[in-house]
Amino acid sequence: MVSDETQEAPQSSFLLPRILLVDPQDPSPTILREAATLLQNGQLVAFPTETVYGLGANALDPPACRRIFAAKGRPSTNPLIVHVANSEAAKQIAHWTNEADLLAAAFWPGPLTLVLKRKGTIPDVVTAGGDTVAIRIPDHPVALALLKATGLPIAAPSANRSNAVSPTRAAHVAQSLGDQVDLILDGGPCQVGIESTVIDLTCQPPQILRPGQLGPTDLEKTLGIRPRISIPSQPHSIARSPGQLARHYAPHTPIEVLGNLGEARSRQAQLEAQNQKVLIVAGEPGPGLLNWGSRSADWAQNLYESFHRFDAEQWDRVILVPPGQGEEWAGVLDRLTRAAKLP
Ligand code: TXA
Ligand code: MG
Repeated sequence: MVSDETQEAPQSSFLLPRILLVDPQDPSPTILREAATLLQNGQLVAFPTETVYGLGANALDPPACRRIFAAKGRPSTNPLIVHVANSEAAKQIAHWTNEADLLAAAFWPGPLTLVLKRKGTIPDVVTAGGDTVAIRIPDHPVALALLKATGLPIAAPSANRSNAVSPTRAAHVAQSLGDQVDLILDGGPCQVGIESTVIDLTCQPPQILRPGQLGPTDLEKTLGIRPRISIPSQPHSIARSPGQLARHYAPHTPIEVLGNLGEARSRQAQLEAQNQKVLIVAGEPGPGLLNWGSRSADWAQNLYESFHRFDAEQWDRVILVPPGQGEEWAGVLDRLTRAAKLP
């Protein structure tokens, strides 16, 4: 008899990647060993983190890292985040600082990526030739067990084609990357749902390069100094962190963000008069709308998950009315703004 953990998805086409189910509460050592061996041999393994799924390769193996860029169609100028099992492993690849110590102690494992001066141990392909490296310890039992099993730093951007919506489930990875990935570990849906906050510690004050679940006030409490937020004003402008480019994070379905439900209803009526199929997402209940509630964490968890579904359901337009604007909404509003910018 085959246990749940070792069941494989049906392989009806050669374009389908191999997917193995892994119980996040009790990851199978056999599967972890297999995934670790693939990574040690220069292959690509997608795995769940608490934010989104990552497309992993041995960060110390330049040809393996080049395969990440090829699989994603990612420009070689966009550096990769390196995932590590502990702070000691981070110190092997980056020049550690007092601020890094404080943030790592407070937020790792967790959805916070630190940009630090690199050491020569990390290959140029990972840093896109720059003098900094982005690092985090993910807060997911499968990711952590995989990092421990390999004993390696693992470079892992989000496991989607460049500019497509980040994956929050194994099936999203398979749809986006097909057989470009050698193995996908399916640990179920991601809890946070949007990518980590990226903070650059190589400048004073530190700069948030990508907003996420952890905001400036959370970080200020630990750092004793308020990080600046650096978000590009121009769509498609060259930003310090290329993931800030406006084209990221958008579904195919046209997205519109409006300030209140009244406006959304009028817009819906206008578009429906043109025979468009329109969905409203709000933070309160109402007839015919999708209610994501009033908490930013729930919106984050629903966001990419639903972007994938909206495309499958073939809406002509989705109008979102986020119920908050405060700091804890920064990550969600950032992704929504970018998603809504596409034609
Ligand atoms: O939550 C996450 O961060 C996920 C999971 C898988 O860990 N990863 C992720 O990776 O979102 P990616 O590559 O899709 O986004 C990484 C972001 C990009 O905006 C990239 O440009 C930026 O981090 N980045 C990477 N290295 C950097 C560096 N040295 N300096 C500045 N930004 C950097
Ligand atoms: Mg990404």
